[in-house]
Amino acid sequence: MLSSYTNLKEIVFGDKRVHMGMTRFASFLLFTLLLSFSSAAITPTSPLSIGQTLISANGVYELGFFSPNNTKELYVGIWLKGTSPQIVVWVANREKAVRDSTANLTISSSGNLLLLDGKHGVVWSIGETFTSNGSRVELLDTGNLIVVDKVSGRTLWESFDHLSDTLLHSSSLMYNLVTGEKRVLTSWKSYTDPSPGDFVSLITPQVPSQGFIMRGSTPYYRTGPWAKTRFTGVPLMDESYTSPFSLHQDVNGSGFYTYFERNNKPSCFVLTAEGSMKMFAHNGTHWVISYEDPPSICNIYGVCGPFGVCIMSVPSECKCFNGFVPKSIEEWKRGNWSSGCVRRTELHCQGNSTGKDVNVFHPVASIKPPDFYELGSSVNPEECSQSCLHNCSCVAFAYIQGIGCLLWNQDLLDAVQFSAGGELLSIRLARSELDGNKRKKTIVASTVSLTLFVILGFAAFILWRCRVKHKEHIAKDVWRNDLKQQDVPGLDFFEMNTILSATDNFSITNKLGQGGFGSVYKGKLEDGKEIAVKRLSSSSGQGKEEFMNELVLISKLQHINLVRILGCCIEGEEKLLIYEFMLNKSLDTFIFDSRKKHEIDWSKRFDIIQGIARGLLYLHRDSRLRVIHRDLKVSNILLDEKMNPKISDFGLARMYQGTQYQDNTHRVVGTLGYMSPEYAWTGMFSEKSDIYSFGVLLLEIISGEKISRFSSGEDGKTLLAYAWESWSENGGIDLLDQDVADSCRPVEVGRCVQIGLLCVQHQPNDRPNTLELLSLLTTTSDLPSPKQPTFVMHTRDEESPLRDLISINEITQSVILGR
Ligand SMILES: *[C@@H]1O[C@H](CO)[C@@H](O)[C@H](O)[C@H]1NC(C)=O
Ligand SMILES: *[C@@H]1O[C@H](CO)[C@@H](O)[C@H](O)[C@H]1NC(C)=O
Ligand SMILES: *[C@@H]1O[C@H](CO)[C@@H](O)[C@H](O)[C@H]1NC(C)=O
Ligand SMILES: *[C@@H]1O[C@H](CO)[C@@H](O)[C@H](O)[C@H]1NC(C)=O
Repeated sequence: MLSSYTNLKEIVFGDKRVHMGMTRFASFLLFTLLLSFSSAAITPTSPLSIGQTLISANGVYELGFFSPNNTKELYVGIWLKGTSPQIVVWVANREKAVRDSTANLTISSSGNLLLLDGKHGVVWSIGETFTSNGSRVELLDTGNLIVVDKVSGRTLWESFDHLSDTLLHSSSLMYNLVTGEKRVLTSWKSYTDPSPGDFVSLITPQVPSQGFIMRGSTPYYRTGPWAKTRFTGVPLMDESYTSPFSLHQDVNGSGFYTYFERNNKPSCFVLTAEGSMKMFAHNGTHWVISYEDPPSICNIYGVCGPFGVCIMSVPSECKCFNGFVPKSIEEWKRGNWSSGCVRRTELHCQGNSTGKDVNVFHPVASIKPPDFYELGSSVNPEECSQSCLHNCSCVAFAYIQGIGCLLWNQDLLDAVQFSAGGELLSIRLARSELDGNKRKKTIVASTVSLTLFVILGFAAFILWRCRVKHKEHIAKDVWRNDLKQQDVPGLDFFEMNTILSATDNFSITNKLGQGGFGSVYKGKLEDGKEIAVKRLSSSSGQGKEEFMNELVLISKLQHINLVRILGCCIEGEEKLLIYEFMLNKSLDTFIFDSRKKHEIDWSKRFDIIQGIARGLLYLHRDSRLRVIHRDLKVSNILLDEKMNPKISDFGLARMYQGTQYQDNTHRVVGTLGYMSPEYAWTGMFSEKSDIYSFGVLLLEIISGEKISRFSSGEDGKTLLAYAWESWSENGGIDLLDQDVADSCRPVEVGRCVQIGLLCVQHQPNDRPNTLELLSLLTTTSDLPSPKQPTFVMHTRDEESPLRDLISINEITQSVILGR
């Protein structure tokens, strides 16, 4: 854990190690389509219309219309000029998109900035401005859009007062208790939908203040109190941290939390639709993620209940503070921690004098200070301790560098223990709680006779046996309760009976296929809804708790090009995942079928290819999990009723391997023909091994040929060798499936073949990364020349072992190789 934090720090501060990242790619696509030209100013007579943009004085930021969904839904937003991919940092009409082509952003004679739409009139406005002189609009180089009084130059309105989901250089979150004013970040609903989502990020008026992410009205995440330069509950922000933030609270009841760029490189701080904070920095050509929270259940507010502490380890777990026991042992054992812990020994404390004799403080290190603290006036740790001891309602104190004395007068909630960093928290306990253990030991030692010892030993053995049995028994139910407790929106828990009747007891007629992780069945729920049920084979190589954590995380991955998990069912040994049912089954049922292949002509195939790349980009870069698929293949691409491609089986390899991010695994899970050389032979996997599989997939989609079946000419050329030959001789056009040749757009086909070959190059470094891949597929930029693929099995030569394996397993079977 220590090392993982150190890594994070490198990511943030060592510019070499930044990860490439991107959000809201869809909007970028639109920009490339729109022919935009800039407008000098917005005036009543020349409003800003669709396709025009307003650019800040030094050309840093740009304001204009964009569509995050590539649909006709248009929003007015601000983004960094001339960069791809775009990150829209502010949106005007979040709640209501415009669709009308005459829509425009204009300024009324009374100085109001208005977004007009032919059908609906005023869709968005800044509200009354109370100026008689008229106003003008300016986009500043900081990304702030301001409306100023024409005559006095007074600022009437500014976008920095109305933040979307992004903090920019010198913009701030704030509260003002006197005026009731509050400035918060509100997440997008999804990364393609800017309307206000579930999450709000704010700072509290407590002293010292802390940052919260709220989900609706319930706390979702808490940063811990602010200590001069850092939040005490964010281990990354240790004493050596040079903070890009400042937080000022004044006695009049207002507070400002301001973000400053550190090195004049544009950067921003975004509240994502999943409720996490991500920091992006612009490295000159791309936006890169420079910080994001590591996912852990310990980030969930109050997950361990009162007096519980969440141990930030892998996997994370709840414990009671020393001297406390679970309130409900049964619930606790089941993994339902919400009721928290209670004192083992009641405190006796009356008034000033007695406290000292009967109570002691037990210090716990590396703690994120719990919620509901009060700031004491003590100026050193000793005084702080005394002030807590002498007030019977005080349960704990901490003397924190940069804050001073914090006191807790109610149940300790939302404490986390880090493996490094954090603060020292001292908790009040009855003295006997600390002395007790010693005393008991002496008594036992002096009175126990040999017989007693034997009897005790025997009793202990019996007890142990019972507990083992008991544990086995409760283990089965642990899963479900854990999941429920986390309250995962959109993830349903199905009863086994429901699934049995939906799938007709997993009848063979309902079986859709067989994959590396288990069989898939079609089912129909009582309400008529169709589902696909994946029955996982039981050989999961990880603990159940880990498995569940993974399931929860993976259920949060949502993208139009990923199959959605609807729920799960875990009973006894059975683990079932329930997915939305895809009407058009998988891509292989089209492209390898002599009749149905005609239904997907070249342009559909090209759409499918791009869709898969978008899904992959989300998995690799945009989701908070960074999922490497590891078994990307035609049969794992499902098609919905509109023939939109959806990647399935993502995250399963991860669930089976646990959460570790190592590149080196014990088992190689994948399908022959799609596995990159480095993955097949050494088990090293990375984004680039998925890119390799994508390349194979691409060549299969173009050619309509299965990699495992293909063999051309005397020498039994593989599909890759054949594609190479075709590309080097005539640009790759003749690789295209002859059955759809009519629909061919030669330039696109040739380009795709070349991209496919770039992806299957032997050296991972030579292959494009996912971001580059998508941009290669969606633009007409120059393509590099691929190197000849070297991993070309000559099927004839090695026919016996590999061929057999492939044909027996058919295309949908994953092959699991031992290392
Ligand atoms: C601005 O939008 C309004 C409403 O759609 C429309 O009537 C008007 O013609 C537009 N103005 C321009 C210059 O396009
Ligand atoms: C984006 O597209 C999805 C699916 O097509 C749709 O459900 C959603 O409402 C769209 N969002 C916006 C803002 O248009
Ligand atoms: C103890 O602390 C509480 C909470 O700060 C305060 O209300 C109370 O007056 C204190 N009691 C004494 C005896 O100081
Ligand atoms: C967890 O425990 C609380 C209190 O003990 C109880 O009310 C709640 O129903 C339990 N939740 C689950 C999922 O069992």
